[in-house]
Parts: sequence; C-alpha cells; structure tokens
Amino acid sequence: MGADIDVDVAILGSGLAGLRAAIEAARTGRDKLVVGVFTKTQVMRSHSVSAEGGTAAVLYTDEGDSFQSHIYDTVKGSDFLADQDAVELFVKKAPEEILQLERWGMPWARRPDGKIAQRFFGGQSYPRACFAEDKVGFFEMSTLYDTSLKYDNIVFYPEWAAVDLFVENGKFKGFAALELKTGKIHKVSAKACVLATGGAGRLYSFATFGYSSTPDGYYMAYKAGVPLKDMEFVQFHPTALVPSGILITEAARGEGGILVNAKGERFMKKYAPEKMELGPRDIISRAMYNEMAEGNGVEGPDGVKHLYLDLRGLGEEKIKTRLAGIREYCMHLAGIDPIDEPIPVRPAAHYYMGGVDTNIYGATQVAGLWAAGEVGCVSINGANRLGSNSTTECLVWGAITGKAAAEYVLAGHNHSSVNNSDSIAIEKHVYDELLGKAPRENPYDIRDQLQANMERTCHIYREEKTMLEGLQTIRNLKQKMFRGVVDSSRYYNTNLMNVLEIEMMIETAEVILVSALNRRESRGAHARLDYPKRDDVNFLKHTLAYYTEDGPRIEYVSPVITEYVPTERRY
Ligand code: FUM
Repeated sequence: MGADIDVDVAILGSGLAGLRAAIEAARTGRDKLVVGVFTKTQVMRSHSVSAEGGTAAVLYTDEGDSFQSHIYDTVKGSDFLADQDAVELFVKKAPEEILQLERWGMPWARRPDGKIAQRFFGGQSYPRACFAEDKVGFFEMSTLYDTSLKYDNIVFYPEWAAVDLFVENGKFKGFAALELKTGKIHKVSAKACVLATGGAGRLYSFATFGYSSTPDGYYMAYKAGVPLKDMEFVQFHPTALVPSGILITEAARGEGGILVNAKGERFMKKYAPEKMELGPRDIISRAMYNEMAEGNGVEGPDGVKHLYLDLRGLGEEKIKTRLAGIREYCMHLAGIDPIDEPIPVRPAAHYYMGGVDTNIYGATQVAGLWAAGEVGCVSINGANRLGSNSTTECLVWGAITGKAAAEYVLAGHNHSSVNNSDSIAIEKHVYDELLGKAPRENPYDIRDQLQANMERTCHIYREEKTMLEGLQTIRNLKQKMFRGVVDSSRYYNTNLMNVLEIEMMIETAEVILVSALNRRESRGAHARLDYPKRDDVNFLKHTLAYYTEDGPRIEYVSPVITEYVPTERRY
C-alpha cells in the first residue's frame, strides 16, 4: 500500500520559519501545489510564540545604520565562525521581511514620527531590533498564521508529530507522522520538505524553551544521513527568571536595565567595559558565572545562586508600555514587581547555534529537503548568535526555503513512491517495542538524569574530564532499558510521545558532547577551561557530525570568509 496522505510540499513545524515557509511555498505554487503543515503542537503553541524582544534588520541607513555594520556585528558576534556569504544574504533580506510582515498586519511599535521603532540588543552596534512590546513572537506568529489561513492550498495537520524521514537514493520522498489524537502512524508522501522543527530545546533543565521543544528535526535529519553542524555551540541566555527559567528579554537591557551582583556592583564593567550589559550573550553569561563562582551571587529560592537585573531606573511608564510581558512573568512567577524590585536572574540554555547542515539557501545534502530557522545551520550564527537575529533568520530562510521547495516541485522533480516498507521500522518500534511494555526505568527519571548531566558536564564552561564523564553517562542512558510505555492507549498518549522525544534527546546530546570534546579550543559559546584560547590555525572550522551506529563520526569544513579576517573580539 502507498502513502496515507500526499502533499506536494511538506512543512514540518509551525513556528516562525515553518509558517513563513508555508506561505511562500503556497504563493509560489498557488493553484498548482498543496502545502501541508505538520506540527506536533497546535500552531499557536509553537515555541516561536514565546519570542520576546525583537527582530533585527537595518531600516534607517539615512540615520546612521548600515548593512555593513549589521554584517560585521553578526560575524564578530559569531567569533568569526559564521559563513560570511550567508550573513550578507541575511542582512540584505532582513528589511524585506520586516516590511512584508508590516503589510500582513504586524503591529510593529512606532516612533513619534510614525516610523517603525527599533531598540538595542547585545552585540549590535545600532538599535536595529524591531519590536511589538515584548511579545514579538506572539504578534509575528499571529500575523503569519492569519496570513496562512488566506491560502486555501495550505492544509494544517496540528498535533501530527513527524517521527521519521523517508529518503531513497539521496532523495527525500516522505515521512512518518504520529497523529497524537489517534496514535496512528501515517505515511506521508511529499515531493519536497522544509524542516522547521526548532532547536534541540530542553536538553538542559534550566532552559527558556517550552516543554515541547525537543530535537525532533535534528534527530530525523541526522538518522537520514544529513550531518549536524556545530552542535557544540549552545547559547546560554544571561537573564532567565529564577526559579522558573522563563526568559527575561534582553530588550530589558536594551531599554536600560543593568546587571548587579549581591554587593550591588554593576559587574559588567569588569568584563565588557564598553558595551557593558549590551555585550554579546556568551561574554555576559560567562561574566555572570564568574561573579557567582567568586562568591558574589545571591542564594536563590531553588538553592542555586543568582544575580539581579535591575530595571528600576527605567521608570514605571517604560516598563508598563515596553516590557509589560516580563513584568507579568515577574509578578506571577517570582512574586516581584520590577518597577520596585530587582529581578532574580541567572543564565539558562536558550538556543542552539548548530543544526542540520545546509547550504546558503537552506538546502540539505538530501535532494528535496531543506531546513530553516533554529533547526538549520546555514550558518549565520557561528559560535555565538546575537540576540534579535534569530526571529529574522526564521523569516528570511522560511521565505527562501518555502520558495525553493515549491519551485523544485514545479520543476517536475519526482521521487519514488512511499510504500509499506518505509514505515516498518518506526511502526515496529512504536507498536511492538514501546506501547504496552513496562519500562524497567521511569523514562522521566532518564530525562532528568540527561538534563542534570548536560547541566553538569556541558554548560557555560567545559573541560575534557567532565565532558568525558558526561558522554559516558549519555551512553549509559542510551543502553538503559527505559524504553516502554505502560499506557497502551492510542488516544493522546503523551507518554508515548515523550518517550520518543527522550530517545531523540539522548542521541542529540551525544552529538553535542562528542562535537564539544573534539573542539579543543574556546570560541564563542564554547568555553573550555583546558583550552582557553581561540585556535584559528586548527579550529577555524565547522564541525560536521554524521550518524553511525557507534556514535557520531566527526569531519570538519572551513567557514566562508569573504571580507572579515578573524581578530580578537573586544566589547
Ligand atoms: O532576549 C530576547 O528577547 C531573546 C531574543 C533572541 O534570542 O533573539
């Protein structure tokens, strides 16, 4: 038997990159192509909805900003590992996306002269983050979702989790999706596919990611033979609310918030004397870690040290109009009003610079398969991403890949048909090995151990000895007989979904640790105590991790350098 469902272009994921790709594919193939959006959650529960502070683009060259400045800031922020041709494309396309969203109804904040307002973000030398209060993701998602509903050739499949990609002779041909409502695994045939499933999410326990953020896209592509690039670079956002880990947007510092330690000192002057709280995230997170390690932290309600983000200097009006969302989080989740009290914060896992290896246009090595947004690694972020570049990246490469996927189908590229044998392995795993089997270990304990292990062994600072321990723990977890889901019901079996996610998390964590162990230098977010210097001679390279049954095989490839030769980063 063939596929259960047939679409022309499949979009996996419904965050900013997924919706933007769907719209572009649908308008490129209007009246000719069917675009299916398959998403593990309800559309508006995709993690992009929680983006807060801003979307970077150069809008006002007449007032002093320039493409060159955004390109240089991004390359320098990346610790010179970004592919500079990709950064150039990104910066040039970014303003189009801001205006495109505006035309679709995005309520960008305005300046007194009526033009789109922009604010500062870390590592950006000009205030170029466009915003809508501090709920940018919510408004962007609403705008894109509303727009996508106007295309009758887009079909949504909410709560359909893609679990396995079908690739034959180097060509994409479809995928298996678990329909959460029925527990049925469907075979979907698609001529082209854009992966837009987001990053690796909650591999860490203290994280700004939603619970549904797991590395599904990374894992599926990796298993299908596409290498994962630069996975060692994990971004820790400096200001997550204690104790929940909810993001306190960098825009709070862009608007004038300051970081202080237990003694009330504005400690960033020691670490980034020029940029202070508007330095890049890798440097600020390390500074915070150092402050706490030196005894300048405050004992937190969860028994862990934290520091303070002080917004009291901003005044009530600014906090209520520009940072209303984080004020609410502080009041509801920490019991404090930032108008009157400093906010308890510490760094949390926030973003993965690495991802599915693609070329500058988001195409993977598998014909017919693209990746966009956090799941992809184009790479514009190199070893460290600048805040406010990520939502822009989702929009820019959502548009590029959606169009490319549709054009690929319109050009008549075909693939062999999907048949029963394609889904045998995943069906056997889910129905025979997992459902109704009592696990010897509670899968949620395994997930807790995995997260604790990542927190302990592969965090802001790393070194060989602890990473080796971390890798051993991951490999032990991989072997453990935790697999099994006692609940054999098919209807909304969230335990089943969670076990599948935990398997993907373990596999991805292994890639991160192996990539990190092999990079014997410090660059961007990868700070090694045993190799504290950047080593351009040996490691000005992207890591590529290929799946093998015995663990990842590592290769390296040089980044594209067009204009900016690496220099020391100072802020
Ligand atoms: O702080 C923030 O609002 C996060 C933005 C980003 O990660 O780009």
